[in-house]
Amino acid sequence: HDVAQRASTGALPGRDDVESLVLAAHDRERDLRDGEVADYIPELATADPSLFGVAVVEVDGGTHDAGDSRHRFTIQSISKAFVYALVCAALGHEEVLERVGVNNTGLPFNSVIAVELNEGHPMNPMVNAGALATTALAPGGDPETKWAFIVDGLSAFAGRPLEVDGLVYASESATNQRNKAIARLLESYGRIEGNPLNVVDVYTRQCALLVDAHDLAVMGATLADGGVNPVTGERVVPADVCRDTLAVLAATGLYERSGEWLFEIGLPGKSGVSGGIVTVSPGKAGIGTFSPPLDPAGNSVRGQRATAFLSRSLGLNVF
Ligand code: DON
Repeated sequence: HDVAQRASTGALPGRDDVESLVLAAHDRERDLRDGEVADYIPELATADPSLFGVAVVEVDGGTHDAGDSRHRFTIQSISKAFVYALVCAALGHEEVLERVGVNNTGLPFNSVIAVELNEGHPMNPMVNAGALATTALAPGGDPETKWAFIVDGLSAFAGRPLEVDGLVYASESATNQRNKAIARLLESYGRIEGNPLNVVDVYTRQCALLVDAHDLAVMGATLADGGVNPVTGERVVPADVCRDTLAVLAATGLYERSGEWLFEIGLPGKSGVSGGIVTVSPGKAGIGTFSPPLDPAGNSVRGQRATAFLSRSLGLNVF
């Protein structure tokens, strides 16, 4: 560790210090070339591996941006965290706990075996099985009502109207046989309601919503701020929902690497295969990073390193 580790004090350093550390986090990882861009969704393989953005939004609304923090990409699995929060707000703690679960599978995000090993239980909302089960619980009797609930809610987290990337949506829709199989498997266990293929379609659309690293930082800051978006001032979800969502992210947000992430960074976070990571420092700030090359579990390599630097140098580790 080549920077002094700041102790977690309950307060962020001053604005100017945060600004220079965000710039430093970008600068020190900019030339790293490790990791592979995801290609199982064909359209994602076209991403430029050199893109790299870092953003921090403080709960008092202060913002800090470095590099390509305004380059848009599809949110992918990071949507799972925010859809989960919205569904928890709509259905309540007990029902979502029973239907979706909170335990890590220790297996890859698109594992079918994990469902089989657990008598059809989807296990947690951050793996694909649990995310499909969560999207199925979104209020509304038809797919369009569920979609409106999700896109409006995610837009409120971001503080601007989010839109779908049509190319990525079409590309994933043509190649998501595995998610369709997982949804059918959940159906066979009575763990998903309604038409499973409609649920997969809404889930695929939610994953294709376009965001940038700055948006992720605002969304994370909303969870850090007890559910109030610090930029728009809108209450998006109740405070107890933030607590539940952050606990699930700490346990499962980086899949089978969640333990290593918590050990090194000490904060709840969520990754996506297009290269985004959102990290939440409760009561302090949200961090958004974007860099497409991934580790074998599907987590952005530079994003993890930049976030680790910020956690240490800003004193964010909650432990
Ligand atoms: O369902 C999928 O496979 C993608 N739409 C999302 C996966 C993802 O982002 C995994 N994260 N690292």
